[in-house]
Amino acid sequence: MALKTPAEVNAMRPAGKFIASVLSSLRDIAREGMTLKDLDRHAHQMIDAAGAHSVYLGYHPSFGAMPYPGVLCTSVNDAALHGLPSDYVLRDGDVLSIDFAAQVQGWVADSALTFQIGTTTPEATKLIETTERALAAGIAAAKPGGRMGDISEAIGKIGRAGGYGINADFGGHGVGRTMHEDPHVPNLGRARTGLKLNPGLVIAIEPWFMAGGDGYVIDPDGWTIRTADGSIAAHAEHTVAITRDGPVVLTARD
Ligand code: MF3
Ligand code: CO
Repeated sequence: MALKTPAEVNAMRPAGKFIASVLSSLRDIAREGMTLKDLDRHAHQMIDAAGAHSVYLGYHPSFGAMPYPGVLCTSVNDAALHGLPSDYVLRDGDVLSIDFAAQVQGWVADSALTFQIGTTTPEATKLIETTERALAAGIAAAKPGGRMGDISEAIGKIGRAGGYGINADFGGHGVGRTMHEDPHVPNLGRARTGLKLNPGLVIAIEPWFMAGGDGYVIDPDGWTIRTADGSIAAHAEHTVAITRDGPVVLTARD
């Protein structure tokens, strides 16, 4: 897998900043009564205004029933990942995960966040906070000289301690000129095992937890991944560069 030079890591910063700014903006505007397509349109306008390039739109891996129809993944309540930006109208209390990646000046960054629309509930707040804490722990473990399993174990431990469902079929990944590169970054694992973490490795770390069990189902569209038991799910993701000085979060929001 390709390690980035310090200059290349620096060149990825504008992509990271752009992704962060779009997610912050979406979080600010998302409210009851808006559709998921409204959010997608807003992000698309920001992409055009920045001269960026969507890496979602038209993306068509073998599992998709159709090419990806938007620039965002918008996953509501029991949808955990890859929810399509549809005409669904957001309701008070909805748990919304937004996942966004795009290419800026030839480099990609990828990030996701989850929040509740309007009224919050203790159940969703705890799930979201635990997912964010797992992301922070995974980032803290992304140290040069460590192993991939350090990240995976840090994430998995926090999810399990919260009593949440975790499914390792989907996880993080390398990021570079394209969205999905080697290596895979699992959300479950054992510390001190797996790939050595060397400076120049840039990865998306992305815990996603389910309030219920470990099972998931996929909609007929081939994209939308939902909890098997209908419980809510949360997802948090940052693109992180492992440098000699430690992890640098390229998609940090202020
Ligand atoms: N950004 C997602 C991830 O974290 C993948 C989105 S797939 C797409 O890996 F098809 F929706 F683009
Ligand atoms: Co990702």
